[in-house]
Amino acid sequence: MSKETYDTLIVGAGAAGMMCAIEAGRRGRRVLVVDHARAPGEKIRISGGGRCNFTNLGTGPANFLGENPRFATSALKRFSQHDFIKRVDQAGIAWHEKTLGQLFCDDSAKQIIRMLTDAMAEAGVELRTGTGVASVARAGDGFAAVLSDGTAVTARSLVLASGGRSIPKMGATGWAYDTARAFGLRVTETRPALVPLTFETGLLETLLPLAGVAVDVVVRNNPEPASNTPGANPASSSAERGRPNVMASSSAKRDRPTFKEAMLFTHRGLSGPAILQISSYWREGEAITLSMAPGVDVLARLKAAREENGGKAAVHTALGHIVPRRLAESLCERGQVAGKLAEVGGKALMRLDAAVNAWTVKPVGSEGYRTAEVTLGGVATDQLDQQTMAAKTVPGLYVIGEAVDITGWLGGYNFQWAWSSGWAAGQVC
Ligand code: FDA
Repeated sequence: MSKETYDTLIVGAGAAGMMCAIEAGRRGRRVLVVDHARAPGEKIRISGGGRCNFTNLGTGPANFLGENPRFATSALKRFSQHDFIKRVDQAGIAWHEKTLGQLFCDDSAKQIIRMLTDAMAEAGVELRTGTGVASVARAGDGFAAVLSDGTAVTARSLVLASGGRSIPKMGATGWAYDTARAFGLRVTETRPALVPLTFETGLLETLLPLAGVAVDVVVRNNPEPASNTPGANPASSSAERGRPNVMASSSAKRDRPTFKEAMLFTHRGLSGPAILQISSYWREGEAITLSMAPGVDVLARLKAAREENGGKAAVHTALGHIVPRRLAESLCERGQVAGKLAEVGGKALMRLDAAVNAWTVKPVGSEGYRTAEVTLGGVATDQLDQQTMAAKTVPGLYVIGEAVDITGWLGGYNFQWAWSSGWAAGQVC
């Protein structure tokens, strides 16, 4: 068995692990990064539709979930979105802001991987892909690991950078959680987040004709149980209209923000950015409330349309000027509102108004880790030093990136956490 000695062993060549390796290497540390995948940065490669939403201009602790999102403040400040943008600029990578502060590469996410692997090589970091860790244990002041190829490695510092459980097909494992637990660290409950939500079969059947329809919505979590069918939900719409994308607290323990983004009907339920965002806050048994024409007074618009041309227009046609046509047809059908506007009474119009702007629906689950963009939960932040990501009780052990109980919203926040936490650990490990 060959034996090798390093200052720092980093497990996981994702966003966090590579950033950490660059920083430690630049400090003159002998760094080995191992990853069981064939190539580094696989999630970077597929992110943002192949263009990598690498950060968000507005990143701050309010965009994160976890037992204590404020834990992220120090690292996010010390290596901010602007620091990462500087590196992207220095590497000559062209980028653009798509929406809501989200920055994407103009060309390809591979440019970000190249920037990181080049910087690792320049910093003298050794990268071994296709290599996992068979075992790791405390050895004196440091750690002794046996790699999957049988190599014995000792290192003063060990960095857990192997991410969360999302997308196991891409090599995601619970390794960081298991290893942290083995070293006595507390790990919070983990669950899929930024994930499409699913419906029970009966409801799905009624919604199937809508698969593929996209609509801009305002969505919020609603702990109250719900009536599930759009158009059969007579809740008042007025309170739901046009709530902006801001944090709002509630009697429940978790903050319950409202998100204003696009939603997509799918064959399994609901997806699209708005749904992925709310999925991080949703829990089994809870409902979500959707406004599908945010800021639009649907009742007033339909009444006004009724006054035009003697109310000859079909009600679904009039509604189709407010929401996508297929959705309008489905809402009218479900709400049993048919015929010409002139024939439709005020109560029926109010039902449509509520169906559009106060649809409260109860998902049965999510698509799970198979499609979740991130894992909520992880190594508890009270086990770690917020400046350095070092484990408080195990000298030389560090946890960074998605493995930590810090989870960002959709929109580049998760990569920024990976860069910031990796950078912070890289200053000392
Ligand atoms: P990451 O998962 O990137 O890296 C962990 C590495 O460890 C992997 O390379 C893995 O192979 C390796 N590994 C795991 N177990 C191991 C073991 N036992 N032994 C050895 N190696 C092991 N975020 C964002 O901000 N903007 C975006 O555009 C997107 N888009 C996006 C799309 C999709 C489809 C997904 C799934 C996710 C995103 N994300 C995102 C989230 C983002 O990808 C995620 O938050 C970061 O990749 C987390 O970085 P880490 O380095 O912590 O883990």
